[in-house]
Amino acid sequence: MGGVAKATIYLVQLLISLVVATQVWAWVLMLGSLWVSGDASRDLVVGLFQSVYILRFGMTAFAVALVPAAVLVIIFRSDPTGWVVPLGYVIAGATLSVLYLLQMGAFISVDSSFLVHRAPVFALGGIIGGFVFYGLSEIRFDGAFGAQGGADRIDARRRRYLASATAAVVGSAGLVSSLAGPFRIWRDSNKHLDLDVSKLAPGQPLTVVVEGTPIWIIRRTKAMIAQLAKDTAELYDPDSNRSYQPANMRNAYRSVNPEYLVAVRVCTHLGCSISYRPDGVPGLFDGRFEGDAVIFCPCHGGVYDMAGRVYKGTPPPTNLTVPDYEFISDHVIRIHYPSLAEKWDRRLN
Ligand code: FES
Repeated sequence: MGGVAKATIYLVQLLISLVVATQVWAWVLMLGSLWVSGDASRDLVVGLFQSVYILRFGMTAFAVALVPAAVLVIIFRSDPTGWVVPLGYVIAGATLSVLYLLQMGAFISVDSSFLVHRAPVFALGGIIGGFVFYGLSEIRFDGAFGAQGGADRIDARRRRYLASATAAVVGSAGLVSSLAGPFRIWRDSNKHLDLDVSKLAPGQPLTVVVEGTPIWIIRRTKAMIAQLAKDTAELYDPDSNRSYQPANMRNAYRSVNPEYLVAVRVCTHLGCSISYRPDGVPGLFDGRFEGDAVIFCPCHGGVYDMAGRVYKGTPPPTNLTVPDYEFISDHVIRIHYPSLAEKWDRRLN
């Protein structure tokens, strides 16, 4: 077989190794996360749905993990013990998995304990993914395994260089794509969006997307407003001490104008999209939420009142996030684009 043909086949082998390693990485993350959160036996369909979500990020994160691995391979190319290469992939994979988890935590609305609980699972995913990449990429044409094995050491060294170059190129692309989101937020952080909501009828919702985040505006009816002031013993955090909202909106309405709810349309449990149920959720929860309007998350049955406050006995850990916004006239809302620091603050609140 000619040199070019060999190199081409080997490149294909490397890319397959990368894709398989990423899938393994993502599935360890997904199944491990479900197991850690106690949801594993509960809802496989939801798990599969989440796996698609995780896989998308997994491709980027694992590619990023390969950059320092490639550097290690180049520095220790003589690899006297035969362990530098696999160790490089494994350590890089584990470290960057955890960094990736922290980065993810900055952009989705989850409790901070989510990060702590899942860090070991993510590290394990990186270790296993690193081994899978190493194992698949070191299988040689003659069936021998590993760059140090077999008679053809020159061929083995070329393979290492090719593996490093592929890892560096794919990884750099992953790195650039993972920095694109934070860059966009930084660039847009002084922007705002003015919305005239006077045409919303009482009881009508409106969704707008600001910096990739869906923001919900619901014009509350008189009955909804009256309901918010009623008995709050059923709520986890009626005074919104553990949730994010602008300081002047820590009240029963979570707003300066009781007529409007403005909230991030993302469940604080595992980030699903939530729905507005003006007639409650009949047929579920033994009728507990029938009749009165609520906000419902179909993923694991999270229920919030019409101020986005979560009901006891349902999974979300905190009330819905209220973004930074203000009324610049009676019915015109100014939503401020978040800065990176604010995104972190919201996470940590
Ligand atoms: Fe689990 Fe919403 S994501 S209840």
